[in-house]
Amino acid sequence: MTEHTLLVCSLCRFSETQKKKHGLSGGQHLIEELQKGLDNCDWSDRITIQPVSCMAACRRSCAVTLAANDKLTFVLDRLAPIESAPDLLKFIEQYVTSPQGKVPYRERSKAIQQATSFILPPLTNSH
Ligand code: FES
Repeated sequence: MTEHTLLVCSLCRFSETQKKKHGLSGGQHLIEELQKGLDNCDWSDRITIQPVSCMAACRRSCAVTLAANDKLTFVLDRLAPIESAPDLLKFIEQYVTSPQGKVPYRERSKAIQQATSFILPPLTNSH
């Protein structure tokens, strides 16, 4: 049962110093850390981590988007690839367990507050 999707840019870069240390792209590293963290989450069957090749936010890497039907869409960027997985996992849990994806600003971690670029309303079906 997956009803929520986290799109993660797999091409986003590390900073120059971090790149030398790891060898993967920042986005790939972030995806791996998220997948590892999901192993310990009892709600992991409700989210799909979907790699995307560039979201046109390259100067603000790492970039992710959290979306689901009938929920707000959160567009985040400037996420540190090494440090962000725990904050993202907590935010995903808050989002998954919220009826409309409305995670109040004060309940988001500081890292998520700072990384949030856009919050879009749910798409309405006008047909
Ligand atoms: S490389 Fe990640 S947004 Fe373009």
